[in-house]
This record gives sequence, C-alpha cells and structure tokens, in this order.
Amino acid sequence: MNSVVEQLTQVLGCAQVHSGDLLTGRATSFWNGEPTQARAIIYPRTTAEVSQTLATCQANNQPVVVQGGLTGCVAGAVSQKQDIILSLEKMTAIESIDAIGSTATLQSGVILEILQNTLADHGLMFPLDLGARGSCTIGGNIATNAGGINVLRYGMMRDLVLGIEAVLADGTVISSMNKMIKNNAGYDLKQLFIGSEGTLGVVTRAVVKLFPLPNSVNCALVAVKDFNDVSKLLSTVRTQLAGNLSAFEVMWGDYYRAVTDAGGHRPPLPREYPFYVVIETEGSDVEGDSKRFNATLEQLFNDDVIIDAVIPKSESERHLVWQIREDFEAILEQKPYYLYDVSLPIRDMPRYVTEVNEGLAEAFNKGQCYVLGHVADGNLHLFICPGQTGDSHEACNALVYEPLRAFQGSVSAEHGIGTEKMAWLNVSRNEAEIALMRQLKGLLDPTGILNPNRVVKG
Ligand code: LAC
Ligand code: ZN
Repeated sequence: MNSVVEQLTQVLGCAQVHSGDLLTGRATSFWNGEPTQARAIIYPRTTAEVSQTLATCQANNQPVVVQGGLTGCVAGAVSQKQDIILSLEKMTAIESIDAIGSTATLQSGVILEILQNTLADHGLMFPLDLGARGSCTIGGNIATNAGGINVLRYGMMRDLVLGIEAVLADGTVISSMNKMIKNNAGYDLKQLFIGSEGTLGVVTRAVVKLFPLPNSVNCALVAVKDFNDVSKLLSTVRTQLAGNLSAFEVMWGDYYRAVTDAGGHRPPLPREYPFYVVIETEGSDVEGDSKRFNATLEQLFNDDVIIDAVIPKSESERHLVWQIREDFEAILEQKPYYLYDVSLPIRDMPRYVTEVNEGLAEAFNKGQCYVLGHVADGNLHLFICPGQTGDSHEACNALVYEPLRAFQGSVSAEHGIGTEKMAWLNVSRNEAEIALMRQLKGLLDPTGILNPNRVVKG
C-alpha cells in the first residue's frame, strides 16, 4: 500500500503535494519563525481537490491541519511532524462581484486586503478589517470568526457571511452558497462552520456581504485621563457620530509608551497620558461628516473628557496613527510575551486590568502588562511579558483567565481557542455547552482527523 503522501500525489499531481525539501525554510506562522513540521503540504486548487484530499486522509486515518494566512494567534494552524497540512493558499479566485445584490463570491484563500482593494475599484467595501489584513485569508477569517477594528459597526465575520461551501472530514461537500440576507429555510448550517476553527469542516468558498465604499473618513487620536472618561467618550461619540462611527480603539498608556519608545513609532501626542483612543468615522458626506466629527471632538474637549488630541492631516499621518495601534513589534521583541484576547463588560475593564496587574506583580517582579483593545465590543488585548526567560505561559494564563470568571468574561473574544486555550474553555462555556460541542465534532468528524486537539478536548 502506498503511503498517504504517495496516494495524495497520485490523486492531485506532484505540483499540489509538497514534501521533503519543499518544506524547508517555511516558517510555522507569523508568530513563530520555527520551520514548519509536517509530512506534506497539500495545495488544492478547487473544492473537488479539497474533497479528494480529505477523503484520502480519512481513509488513511491521517490527521490534517488546515492553514490559511498563518496569522492566527492561538497556534490553531501549527502542525506536528505526523500531520498533513491542507493549505488554501492556491484558492484565490474572486469569482464574482454583484453590486446590486451587494455580495462577492470567492474562494477561501483570497487575502483580505486583496478583496478590500479589488472591491474599492468597484466603489464597494467589505468591512471586516484587522492588522493582519495583508496576509490573513477570508477562509481563515471565517474559520476563526475574525473580529478586528470595525466590529462595533458591522459585526464579526459571522455577521458578514451569507453563504459558504465547506468540505467535511469524509470529503462530503456542503454547498450552502446562499446570497440572500433573509433565508430561514431550516437550520443556518454555515454558522456551524464559522468560528469552528477548521475542526468541523474546511471552508472552500464563500459569499460575503458588501457595502458602499465610504467617501469620507475622519480620524483622531485623543488622550483621556482615566477609564471613566474613556466610557464617557465612547457613549458621546456613539450618540453624536451615530451611523458613522466605525472604530474606537483604546490603548492604555503603557502600551502607547512601549510602541513609541526610542526606535519605535513617532508619537503624535505626548507619551505621558493614561489612555489614548483612536476614533474613526466613515460616511458619505465629506463636508458634513467632517463638521460633525470636529464639533463632537470640540465639545468633548470643552467638557474636559478629551485632554489632548491630534487629527491627521494626510493619509500618511493617519497611517502613522494606525501603525501605533496595529504594529506592536516593539513588544514582540520582549520575549517571551503572551498575547491574550479576552472580553468582558466594559464597566468591569478597569477593575479587571488592575487585578491582572496585581497578580502579575506578585508572580513576576519584572512582569509587564500592555493593554489595548477594541473595547466598544467588550474586547481587550493584553500582552503579558513575564520579564524572565523560560516558559511562563501557564502561569500567565492563570493570571489573565482566573479573574475573568467573576466578570462572566470570555477567554477568547476573537482569536479562538486553537491549541492554546482548551484547558480554559470552561471559564466561558458550561458543561452542557462543551458536551454539545463534542457531540457536533463526533458527528461531523467521527474519526477526528480534522484539526485534532483543537477547540474542545476529545
Ligand atoms: C489586534 C489583534 C491582536 O487587535 O487581534 O491587533
Ligand atoms: Zn484584535
């Protein structure tokens, strides 16, 4: 009997099956420069080839790890040497764009930024947006139910997908390429696959929702003296800029100082403030939108809610503001670091952050905690740097996740569970929920070949 790699080569052809030397030098992920470990990487070009790959792997009881743009934060796409990787990298067709129906139909390997740019040429927009836009793929965004910076206005990926095609572990193709917003004909099966992190099926194609491309964008970076004023700022801009507010990104002072330190980003505002917020609106009335935006900021300034502000005067100045928020390279250099993405009620955030900091100071005398977050949707990111070499991941997990229980928070707002958080799933999901997750896994992937040991323990 031929090996599974030989069988896959026979079925798909040599070009689609990379093994041996072809794996050399390929980094594990954006976060992990170690070389990829796997028996082979399969690059299918069509749904039919994905189906053949999975059927062959299931017949051989071969574990499969699904990969998109390799930007996921919870090691969900990290393979072991006995795994076969199924990469959607070659499935990059934007098949159709329907301006009237406001939909795009595409293969799941399309890179988010390529979709955004292609649509912009048609005066259209796909509103999911995140720092990894240049590498992450639509399939990965679907599999992880990606969030990002525009969630407060447009929702998460789950809210932006109308239809999907997914392949089950045995090769069965579930084509559910719905294009309507309204369709209550039975269970909404696509939602099973969205956010299931590739454990229930492999997403091969999708229909996504489009919006008109806004022609006015207003942005500001403002400084605020305490979290109470961050909340006041949020409720004011939500009301005054209603309909247009598209981003409200908060950076705690320590985070801002870390990324604007010597050799980092140029700080557009002084570095000593307690909180910084990026506020952005998108609309269709260039003059009116900017008037409303400036008047709102002026009022907040007069009310002492905003203590300092800078309004970018060019696209490159705006880019710099976003770089401060999205490019945290300076923190990534402080190895080891552990990145978290929790969610909890906004009013509990300051207490929660204080508790994490107190726990950290007790456990690690050189520990640092850098906090930022999408906030309006309940989501905070924490970078915990224990300040000592060695693996402190579990100790840091406990510092971040244990205090969440009291706030009924989530151990994953948007990054998912992957291989990293399975032990903590019970902070945010009860026994009956976890049991049903296991049943669904058993039903759709009875031999457990698809992204094994992820999300929920078998
Ligand atoms: C962000 C990623 C870490 O918001 O989710 O930058
Ligand atoms: Zn995020």
